[in-house]
Amino acid sequence: MILETCHQTWADEADCERAAQALAGTPPIRDACITLHGTLGVGKTTFVRHLLRALGVQGRIRSPSYAIVEPHELPDCPDLGIWHFDFYRFGDPREWEDAGFRDLFASPGLKLVEWPDKAEGLLPQPDLALVLDLQADGLRRVTWQAGTARGRELLQPLRSLQDHRH
Ligand SMILES: Nc1ncnc2c1ncn2[C@@H]1O[C@H](COP(=O)(O)OP(=O)(O)O)[C@@H](O)[C@H]1O
Ligand SMILES: [Mg+2]
Repeated sequence: MILETCHQTWADEADCERAAQALAGTPPIRDACITLHGTLGVGKTTFVRHLLRALGVQGRIRSPSYAIVEPHELPDCPDLGIWHFDFYRFGDPREWEDAGFRDLFASPGLKLVEWPDKAEGLLPQPDLALVLDLQADGLRRVTWQAGTARGRELLQPLRSLQDHRH
């Protein structure tokens, strides 16, 4: 279900970083589930890195790869859960329970999810979806989709960066 959308065009990583900073400055980000959609190499992990940096995550930000989930911590807020998922290699639905993913998604905190379609039917309704598309001209077409009331709140700071070119 999509309640509201917002479109942007990213010319470069600085545009991606601006969007990440806008979201990081919005309090509901600290208890949100955001899915990231688009082909390999489109910039999903890059966006996650900028968002985590903007929130204050220090040190190297690794991609989840085989572990599927990579937890992160804010030095000034160690109790806040932050989980970066990449379900690209997720194949066995039994793992959902066994690896504790059900519990993580039920916990308060920030969940960022690459390749959510690989865990379809298991994931809760995301608050926000980021859909990325790399065009032939090298620009990234960006669509933000709010799926919940919280997602609509998160769309607000993104609106000031909205694409007026179409
Ligand atoms: N917004 C962007 N603008 C320009 N280049 C980007 C952008 N986002 C990502 N890239 C480039 O694309 C590469 C792959 O991005 P990545 O985030 O790993 O993709 P994904 O996680 O979607 O597979 C990055 O290493 C970077 O060089
Ligand atoms: Mg990735």
